[in-house]
Amino acid sequence: MEFQITTDPIHSLQADLGILPVYQDGKPSAAASSLSPSLRSRIARAMASGDTQGKPGDTLLLTETGNLGIKRLLLAGLGRKDKLDARAWNKALAAAAQRSERSASAHVVDLLGLETVPGLDETRKARNSAEQWHHASYRYTATRKAAKDARPKDRRLTIAVAGGADLAAAEQGLKQGQAIGRARNFARELGNLPANVCTPAYLASQARKLARSSPRVTAKILLEKEMKELGMNSLLSVCEGSQLTPRLIVLRYKGASPKAAPVALVGKGVTFDTGGISLKPGRAMDEMKFDMSGAGCVLAVMQAAAELELPINLVVLAAAVENMPGGRATKPGDIVKAMSGETIEILNTDAEGRLILADALHYALRFKPSRIVDVATLTGACLMALGRHYSGLFSQSDELAEELRKAGEDSGDPVWRLPLGPEYMPELKSNFADMANIGSRYAGATTAACFLSRFVKDANWAHLDIAGTAWKTGASKGSTGRPVPLLTEFLLAL
Ligand code: BES
Ligand code: MN
Ligand code: ZN
Repeated sequence: MEFQITTDPIHSLQADLGILPVYQDGKPSAAASSLSPSLRSRIARAMASGDTQGKPGDTLLLTETGNLGIKRLLLAGLGRKDKLDARAWNKALAAAAQRSERSASAHVVDLLGLETVPGLDETRKARNSAEQWHHASYRYTATRKAAKDARPKDRRLTIAVAGGADLAAAEQGLKQGQAIGRARNFARELGNLPANVCTPAYLASQARKLARSSPRVTAKILLEKEMKELGMNSLLSVCEGSQLTPRLIVLRYKGASPKAAPVALVGKGVTFDTGGISLKPGRAMDEMKFDMSGAGCVLAVMQAAAELELPINLVVLAAAVENMPGGRATKPGDIVKAMSGETIEILNTDAEGRLILADALHYALRFKPSRIVDVATLTGACLMALGRHYSGLFSQSDELAEELRKAGEDSGDPVWRLPLGPEYMPELKSNFADMANIGSRYAGATTAACFLSRFVKDANWAHLDIAGTAWKTGASKGSTGRPVPLLTEFLLAL
């Protein structure tokens, strides 16, 4: 899809479909007030008939537009005008993008950005618009015949901004939104691919491809032998039962002086999590192909950073392994020595994410990062606590936690902070090793975070548990690409 921005008035625009904001209380939107009286009364009649109330997320298609150059109008509800906020506007945008991507329109004009929205500037409106249209346009086709697709191949989206608006700001937002949207879809594709395609080696090949496409990105892939030499026995213990060899992917992006400390992002890349010898129950086990979503996310954020040529240094680490039972698989009670020198009693082989992150986080310290954020589908307990709306956020640093919370709110990809206190630490005591890899039945997301905290020393670190947010189940089963928007926003704000 091609994107552009226009300041032209509505009457000079030609398109197959226009997204027209409407308010629940019947007050005209900025875009609607410049339409002809007859078209305005047609819209009023459609709303009075109850076909749409104009609530945020409501849409209604009008196929008669008189002599307007825009052939059809999709009414997009914004709720009450006096209550308009970023949330309502974003909801209308997402609904309109989705509805429009189900139509056969070759050229769409989005008039939502003509509204003045508290909390959204021109950059943000254009950014969200491009991102949402990318999101709505994604279809999974890699391993099946493409479903019937009514959409023309070369589609165009024109984002209308007010005549007097800051065009440069909108253009910048458009560029950012495109990068975020593309990156998010890249993460979704990696998540959606089955585990017999998206293997550790496949993730490594995607990382190498990324490095080839940008002069500022370099890739280094650590293989089993090198990891053994480094003493990464905690990571390696997870894939003992698998026929697939592990990869530790290291991508470095240089956008600032070599002296500037990088940001480090570390992703959990379990390409399939059977639980190992502590085998998971069969129900919905297929969804454990999404257990590499943290890795997919950080690779995608690297792609966005490179595309936007962000003025920062960035290191991305993705620990890619498969967790399988087998004759050589790790058994409950086995003890391994992590790269940090500490020993771990593996009481449950299904608590494997923290075992790979222990070594990946320890390895990340060598880059002396200003901030380390890890991203992992780590615990079912986090899903139980927060459901599918918020990712779990854990940090000992209030400052870093606030940066991430704000980035989550601003990007519409929110996090909720959960405790990470020393009170929980004793739960990880082991009679036979320096620590155990699980705590009690309670506060499972927190004890997992506590475990990770032991491998980051005093680094400025935060942990995102995306067990509830990385994918959807049920009829809309599929990767969400979260938290790519949050982390890209976080990097943009630095
Ligand atoms: N990948 C899972 C966590 C998970 C489960 C994410 C369900 C999303 C949905 C992780 O490796 C795991 O199995 N965690 C265990 C830890 C437990 C054994 C302490 C869990 O949450 O049950
Ligand atoms: Mn597991
Ligand atoms: Zn897992």
